[in-house]
Amino acid sequence: MRPITICLMNQKGGCGKSSTCFHLAGQFAQAGDRVLLVDADPQGSLSQGFFGSTLVECLEPQETLAALFLDDAFLAPEALCARTPLENVASVRSNQHLAPHNTPCPQTTGLRQFALRTCLDRLPDFDLVLIDCPPNLYQCSWNALVAADFVIIPVPPEDFGTQGLRPVQQAIEGARLLNPRLSLLGHLVTRSDGRLLVHRTYEQNLRRLYGPTVLQTVVPEASAFKVSLACRQPVSHYAPRSKAAFVMRRLAQEIVARIEGSNREEKIA
Ligand SMILES: Nc1ncnc2c1ncn2[C@@H]1O[C@H](COP(=O)(O)OP(=O)(O)OP(=O)(O)O)[C@@H](O)[C@H]1O
Ligand SMILES: [Mg+2]
Repeated sequence: MRPITICLMNQKGGCGKSSTCFHLAGQFAQAGDRVLLVDADPQGSLSQGFFGSTLVECLEPQETLAALFLDDAFLAPEALCARTPLENVASVRSNQHLAPHNTPCPQTTGLRQFALRTCLDRLPDFDLVLIDCPPNLYQCSWNALVAADFVIIPVPPEDFGTQGLRPVQQAIEGARLLNPRLSLLGHLVTRSDGRLLVHRTYEQNLRRLYGPTVLQTVVPEASAFKVSLACRQPVSHYAPRSKAAFVMRRLAQEIVARIEGSNREEKIA
């Protein structure tokens, strides 16, 4: 069985893409799924989540996602998958070596657009692949769209957070020409502070604008996410009784329900 591949994408920086990947991976792994985290961001935040910045910054290009874009690299995809301290979670890591390959106008780069997809197609032993994208729509995000089945767009309920969603939508539509199976799983409201009127209002606006594509689960701003990350563990493992862990469980359930719903629709069609 092919794994389900989901990328988290938004041009907006700091909206919780890496954090959501990290904590969701823990949640799915705890439920018994074999998860591959793909860090497609030259910032390497997701990789640092498990391995720390010193180790990640010292990785050679051949040990990271950059290997996919090196002309002379002999590529053994399974060798790129590093075990993490968490059972059931492996990671393809990234660091600064990916930056020169994250070029604009990826649509003009021929087979490079399929680099990640080709790599993932050769890795059968996972149930779920989560791809963390950088805050732009260049080559790395484009490769993620070409490789993925679904996109989640994390959106903080604020003015700057909700800007720039149209280019993301356009990129998804463009990538469908190369990857017809790609679909939007949903917008995910992140970093929400329910005490703030401005957050409640923007969430309502999002739901009015995008209707049911906005996931019901809202990820709150919560210190448990930060503290767990600082301790190099997802909330599911570090603080399983916290509200943050409860929210991640609910989010994982909603994601699974949406995927099952979309598979049913496909079969009917
Ligand atoms: N729900 C949350 N509650 C508290 N802190 C959060 C939450 N989501 C993210 N953060 C924190 O905010 C910071 C930015 O989050 P994160 O790195 O996940 O964003 P990002 O979208 O991946 O950013 P970038 O675009 O730079 O890749 C991190 O320090 C992270 O721990
Ligand atoms: Mg990030």
